[in-house]
Amino acid sequence: MSLLEKIDLQRLPRHIAIIMDGNGRWAKEQGQDRLFGHFHGVESVRNIVEGCAELGVSYLTLYAFSTENWDRPAYEVNGLMELLIDTIRKEVDTLNRNNIRLHMIGDMQMLPESAQRELQEAMDLTGSNTGLNLIMALSYSSRWEIVRAARLIAQDVAEGRLQPEAVTQSLWESYLCTRSFPDPELMIRTSGEYRISNFLLYQLAYAELHFTETRWPDFRKENLYNAILDFQNRERRFGKTSEQISEVPSPVDSKGSF
Ligand code: IPE
Ligand code: IPE
Ligand code: MG
Repeated sequence: MSLLEKIDLQRLPRHIAIIMDGNGRWAKEQGQDRLFGHFHGVESVRNIVEGCAELGVSYLTLYAFSTENWDRPAYEVNGLMELLIDTIRKEVDTLNRNNIRLHMIGDMQMLPESAQRELQEAMDLTGSNTGLNLIMALSYSSRWEIVRAARLIAQDVAEGRLQPEAVTQSLWESYLCTRSFPDPELMIRTSGEYRISNFLLYQLAYAELHFTETRWPDFRKENLYNAILDFQNRERRFGKTSEQISEVPSPVDSKGSF
């Protein structure tokens, strides 16, 4: 039985988020420049986007560049930005052919205006697709997003559009960049690092975390299937007891009467 056949398609994670890490080390291990690793990382992106679309996953968020990554050497930042924007531009037709809708989260104002325009255009061109939602986290960090949300709420309160009592979890979520997406159920990080690195800190509250030693440029559909199988073997309790989770609701309970 192949890995793919072992996956229960009825219990797929609706939203998978990936910290695509290890490009630089992958390149160094082959005596190459770090940009060589980023370049090969694009092949993994294609493969995993295709894998998610084939399976029927609804949302895939890829952490492509953090706000902290701006502090890397200019040579790497420029090379990486060019590669990311160039790739998105070239992939628009493929996204449309596969009914994939592109979204971006992050501080786009940090990007040059021409890049912002290109990304907006790519989002507009895929805007009516109804299959996989591909969310690129670009110039993104969770603390940036959280502080931004707090500022927007404070503004709305100060200008009388919002009462402090109206700030609930769901209102808070509507101020995040991820307002249109459900929380990730599975978070994968490649390359043997066991941390979150400022990624979706609020949204990952109940995600299952899967870490793998595989460097991102080596990550392929089989690795994705392994991560999904790992997810399907977890018991997600959301604070309840194991007994509560495995209890089959009796017909009386499920009607909510008596
Ligand atoms: C991930 O690979 C890609 C980005 C962070 C942009 P890295 O560039 O972090 O590679 P390592 O972790 O240094 O190997
Ligand atoms: C996280 O990887 C950011 C992305 C994958 C885009 P980093 O390589 O920047 O994270 P740290 O520095 O190892 O925590
Ligand atoms: Mg890294």
